[in-house]
Parts: sequence; structure tokens; C-alpha cells
Amino acid sequence: MDLHTNDSSESAAGVFVSDKCQIPVGGIPQQEPDRQQYYMALCRQKVQEISDKLGRPLTCFISTFGCQMNAHDSEKLLGILLEAGFVEGTSEESDFVLYNTCTVRENANLRVYGRLGYLHSLKKKNPHMMIALCGCMMQEPEVVEKLKKSYRFVDLIFGTHNVYKLAELLEQRFETGKMVIDIWKGTDKIVEDLPSERKYTFKSGVNIMFGCNNFCSYCIVPYVRGRERSRAPEDIIREIEELVKNGVVEIMLLGQNVNSYGKNLESPITFAELLRRVERIEGLKRIRFMTSHPKDLSDELIEVMASSKKICRHLHLPLQSGSSEILKKMNRHYTKEQYLELTERIRKAVPDISLTTDIIVGFPGETEEDFEETLEVVRKVRYDSAFTFIYSKRTGTPAAAMENQVPEEVVKERFDRLLAEVQAISAQVCGRDVHTVQEVLVEEPDSHVEGLVTGRMSNNTIVHFPGGKELIGKIVKVYLKESKGFYYMGSLVD
Ligand code: SAH
Ligand code: SF4
Ligand code: F3S
Repeated sequence: MDLHTNDSSESAAGVFVSDKCQIPVGGIPQQEPDRQQYYMALCRQKVQEISDKLGRPLTCFISTFGCQMNAHDSEKLLGILLEAGFVEGTSEESDFVLYNTCTVRENANLRVYGRLGYLHSLKKKNPHMMIALCGCMMQEPEVVEKLKKSYRFVDLIFGTHNVYKLAELLEQRFETGKMVIDIWKGTDKIVEDLPSERKYTFKSGVNIMFGCNNFCSYCIVPYVRGRERSRAPEDIIREIEELVKNGVVEIMLLGQNVNSYGKNLESPITFAELLRRVERIEGLKRIRFMTSHPKDLSDELIEVMASSKKICRHLHLPLQSGSSEILKKMNRHYTKEQYLELTERIRKAVPDISLTTDIIVGFPGETEEDFEETLEVVRKVRYDSAFTFIYSKRTGTPAAAMENQVPEEVVKERFDRLLAEVQAISAQVCGRDVHTVQEVLVEEPDSHVEGLVTGRMSNNTIVHFPGGKELIGKIVKVYLKESKGFYYMGSLVD
């Protein structure tokens, strides 16, 4: 297969210039999102033609790896594919298969290569199949090189900055019959008002910012997601109002470091101020956000959380390490003492808050003493839950070049100890609300037991209780009968 590479670059003014944009074809709108609507219409024609020939609709399937940002991007990608005439398939045995990839740790990356072999076998059976790859992994030049060389059956490759352009790229693939690659190094462009297909009708993610400027020394995200860009508050509010009109009661404000929201806007506003404005939206019941960097968590935010009726009683506050020495090498800009002091301040202002965290084990140079300090913080803070990760070396990050990488068996042993500690504490902490009545947003029928539904408390804990589908999307009062460690069994209160 030939390659059709968009030799994309950024001009001095930071404006994206792609070879496609320069073709002077009459009638193609130059402004977004009209331009993409135009390409969606063109794709719809092509999809219809193939569909007519085959006598069946063309299906699409998206598999998402990684974090909430990717999950939210996938809703936009699915929205575009449905507009382009596909119907949603249920498995990779579909006509258009898209992997939205993650590269934060090496194993996320390896899983994608593993599954590509399977996709190739499916493509041999279905000549109409198209395989597309996008997301964070595609922002790594070595990955794209490898795909170009050894995975030539892939049809479409694009990155994290041009998700909104899927229809245009797909049309290019239909037109040229060649592999299309479109990767941008960065952008300051944010395209509003594109279609999106939400997984849930009653809750939704809302991007408030893109990218990250923190450069924690182990982390690849700033390299693959680019510099921090905040959306205008008016656009965010408008989107949420629209969502609420369409039945959404809970939103999750998304950003890699929501606490630095708004700093680079023309008229800067704080994250706390944004929350105040979101709180005023009538009909919206619950507000969540993620992720908070401890270094930027302000007293103003704590005050807003304490006085809010809508902000959920849950804060994800990644610790990464309990050793000030390691935190310094991680470039996190807080010490163990500052972190502990911050959690105390939050707990004082919002006593019923549930705290969760992320912890990395085996960062280069981590000694047994450093690790024990992490255990100490875990014991002091008593997290509801903690995501624990084995340090993964990411090429190009400062930590990858550091000396004293910790031997695998030492890391494994520490990881197991940490996990045991985290789980023991969380089993005690999570049960604290047993025998009380709590408000629960009902999300779906229970996946194991017929006749039960599953919902979420404000503090993010899961509750299962007898109920029917008509409750889905509603906030109801539930009596927590029994704590099962990480979740409750309950019963509906009239
Ligand atoms: N922006 C968020 C985190 C995004 S990545 C924040 O700063 O909190 C999610 C988590 O992946 C991080 O919190 C970190 O614990 C983990 N992580 C990131 N890079 C990693 C690496 N190289 N090895 C292991 N875990 C990593
Ligand atoms: Fe990565 Fe740090 Fe940015 Fe989070 S804040 S995405 S850990 S660089
Ligand atoms: Fe992964 Fe990208 Fe999220 S690297 S964790 S999908 S920002």
C-alpha cells in the first residue's frame, strides 16, 4: 500500500498548515466546524454506495485505551463516524475499526501492537475493512515509523490534536485508496460544536483544557498531548447547558491539571471561579472533575467545594510518591509534608470527602526508606482507593535517562506490599457510610444479578440495589444495608 502523508507543520504564528487545506477546491468551507460537516456529508455518500453494493449497513467499532480524556475523545470520534453513515458495531469484526491508544506506560503500548495482529487477520477476511489508529501513542514518531514499516495494512493514522478531523481524513482515504497519516506536533486550535455520541444519556465528560505543562519527569503526556490550552469559560458553560437540556445531570470536568485552568486565557479566570459559574447552571445536579495536581490546589477551590451543593464529595489527588526526595526528582513541586497538610485542610473543610490517588512504585533511585515514606502517607491519608503503578520507562522523558533504575524484583516486591496496604485500608474506609441513606445516581442494570441496578454515590462509591431500568439516570435515595469492602448492597427508600 502506498502512503499518503500529510506533511503537517506549524507556522511561526502557531497556525496549522496542511497540504489539504491549500488545495483550492470551490465549495469546501474553510471554517470549522462547517468544513468537517462538509466532509461528513461526502463520507456519507461513499459509505452509502458501499452499503448499497453489499446490501447491508457498514459498521464501525472504537476500542479505547487509557484515561478519561481518551474516553471522551472516543465519544466525539463515534459521533463523527455515525454522522458519516456508519452504524455502531459490537466487536472488532466491523467495517471500520479504530483504536484510540494510550502510551502512558509501556504495557498500554504493547497491548495495541498485540491486537493489531488480530485485526490483520480480520481484514484478510473482509476486504472492506478499514483499520485506523489514533491517540497518544501515534504522537510518538518511532511508533509511526514502525507502523509504516511493519503494519502497512493500517489505513488511517492520526494523533491527539486533530481528532475533530476524522471525517476529512476518512474522505482522503476513500479518495486516494492509500494509507493516510496526519500527525501534528501541536496546536492552539480548539474546534467547538462537533457531533458526539455519549455513552450515557445522563452523564458526560466535558473538556475544560487540553495538554499539560507540568513535565513530571517520568511522564510522556506533555509530549503527546502538547502544551496546556484552556477552553473559554463561555464555551464550557454553553456546552454544559446544552447537555443539561438533553438530559444530563452529572458532568465530569476534564483536564490533566484542572487546578491550573484558565491561567493562559486572554481574560484569566481560576478553576474555582469556573466551578462557581458551572454550579449556577439550573438542572445540573452533580459536578465532578479530574485531575487535580496538589501543587496548584488553592484555598479558593477548597472553599468552593465546601460551600457547593453540586460538587461531588470526591477528590482524586495523585500523590505519586511519599518521599520528598523522590517528589523533587519527579518534578512534582510539593513535599510530603505539604501534601499531608493539604489533605488535612481539605478534610477539615469537607469532612465527608473521599480521597483517591495515583502512586508510582520504583521511580529511579527509590530506596527502601523512600518507599516506606509512601506507605506512611498511605496510612495517614487513608485513601478510599489508590491506583498503583509500576514505574515504566518512557523514552524521551528525563527519568528514562536517570541512573539507579530500581531492579524489577525489588519493584515487584514493593508493589505487592503497597497494594496489600492500600486494599486493607480501603476495605475499612469504604464501609464508613453503612446503615445510612445516601443519594445515588442510577447508572445501569447490574451486570451480574438480574433485577438489580448499579449506581454511584456522590463520593464515587458503587451501590447495587433492587430496581428497574426506569430508574436509570435518576438520583434516588438508597439505604446502604451492607458494605462489601469496595461497594454496598442497598435498598431503595421511598
Ligand atoms: N495528569 C494526571 C495524571 C495523568 S497520567 C496527574 O498529574 O495526576 C495517570 C497516572 O499514570 C499518573 O498519575 C501516574 O501515577 C501514572 N504514570 C504516568 N507516567 C507513568 C510512568 N512513566 N510509569 C508509571 N506510571 C505512570
Ligand atoms: Fe503527566 Fe504530570 Fe502532566 Fe499529570 S501533571 S499529565 S503526571 S506531566
Ligand atoms: Fe494515556 Fe494519553 Fe491519557 S497517554 S493516560 S490516553 S493522556
